[in-house]
Amino acid sequence: MRLDKLLGNSGVGSRKDIKALVKSGAVTVNGVTAAKSDMPVNAEGDEVCVNGVKIVYKEFIYLMLNKPQGVVSATEDFKYKTVIDLVPEKLRHYDLFPVGRLDIDTEGLLILTNDGAYAHNMLSPKKHVYKTYLAHLDGDVTEDDIKRFADGITIDGGYTCKSAVLKPAGDKSATVQICEGKFHQVKLMFKAVGKSVLYLKRIKFGEFTLPDNLPLGEVVEVEPTIK
Ligand code: URA
Repeated sequence: MRLDKLLGNSGVGSRKDIKALVKSGAVTVNGVTAAKSDMPVNAEGDEVCVNGVKIVYKEFIYLMLNKPQGVVSATEDFKYKTVIDLVPEKLRHYDLFPVGRLDIDTEGLLILTNDGAYAHNMLSPKKHVYKTYLAHLDGDVTEDDIKRFADGITIDGGYTCKSAVLKPAGDKSATVQICEGKFHQVKLMFKAVGKSVLYLKRIKFGEFTLPDNLPLGEVVEVEPTIK
């Protein structure tokens, strides 16, 4: 990999900034001042420093976002704030995108990454990645609802969902665990049993659980153990 690419991917600055840094002698590779910004380096083996500070190079990054309502799960939008707008400036140089979507009025756990293969696996219907949602409803769930979710409920459009685990979670609230991700799936599943979702939050996605102490709109870096 080229030195300027490694530094650029690490958020050191623009290609022009990096050229100037190298020219000024601020960049060393294995303790030797780098002569040219396009010199080849080994991202794993070489120690690259800028002004004596070691650069920790990461090709891929994974962020857990507690998505607020009113924000769209997209990288750009003409009308609404996007989940990428919530990423701190120092991480913006990664080419991040959301792993799947939450509706604009859904809150909770969304993974942002620049690792396309990881995203693909997380979303692949073949992988059966579990997602759990907390829903506030306009009524209490019944034993019949639980059974119908477990048996596979047919939603608008005629699709029969895979078996889902529905559990009451207090007054007019429930958690639902699903292993697929059809458009508006949870809302449509409840609609099929005559209930409206008043509030929806994703609390689990695969191996990740939304931490109680992660404020809405904030991200925390995570490292998947399953890729
Ligand atoms: N199901 C929905 O209905 N909405 C979401 O945002 C996610 C799952």
